[in-house]
Amino acid sequence: MNAARRALISGNWKMNNGGASGVQLASDVARAMASFSSIDIVVAPPFTALVPVVAALKGTRVEVAAQNMHPKDKGAFTGEISPSMLLEAGCKWVILGHSERRAMFGDTDATVAEKTKVAMDVGLRPIVCVGETLEERERGDTLNIVKRQLNAFASIIADKPGWAAVAYEPVWAIGTGKNAGPEEAQEVHAMIRARLADISADLAAKTRILYGGSLSPKNADALLRCPDVDGGLIGGAALKAEDFSKVGEIAQSIS
Ligand code: PGA
Repeated sequence: MNAARRALISGNWKMNNGGASGVQLASDVARAMASFSSIDIVVAPPFTALVPVVAALKGTRVEVAAQNMHPKDKGAFTGEISPSMLLEAGCKWVILGHSERRAMFGDTDATVAEKTKVAMDVGLRPIVCVGETLEERERGDTLNIVKRQLNAFASIIADKPGWAAVAYEPVWAIGTGKNAGPEEAQEVHAMIRARLADISADLAAKTRILYGGSLSPKNADALLRCPDVDGGLIGGAALKAEDFSKVGEIAQSIS
């Protein structure tokens, strides 16, 4: 981490805790993390829990993200949720281009760029995900793949430096218990920041680059101490208020 940027600790609940259990988890997170005033905190519940979770978090330091959105504002898109619906539900953030959406639901660099542009335009803060598969890492393609994914949206987030965050999530580390080591993470984060610096120094200085992939209380200290790691996007460990808040406590203690 770097004192110039506030740490951002975000929890991606994926398809878990859609109803009353989500409200409970959000309330527990807010209570456990109430005193961590040096960091920003975001939780991303499933769509059905957005409204009650926003209500439960009113007056707390925890903000709410959606896990995806459709780029169009309204129309004949059965099963989709629009940016204005997310704003109306009280979301401040939206996760875009998560590897599960890229692998299973047809998100491409082009659709991620389109959604990022819309989010920036309507005032939602995107957390845009990038990351290589195991096969891509093993053939030495990590930096190329991440650069290609980043290039699709980097100039779009330059419109408002610091408004969006980028999450580096190596696919092989997601939900596997196998995290990237601090050197592996720092190498990719530094490349991402250097690429942002090609666009503008301000963009590079202000954009928070989060690490995701089996981030937990066990490995958070080493990862969050990397100079270009500005926080985390946490899946499994975000489903327990105790684990999630422990990562927050570590970020707070480093910042
Ligand atoms: P994980 O998920 O922490 O369970 O590996 C991270 C993510 O997919 O955002």
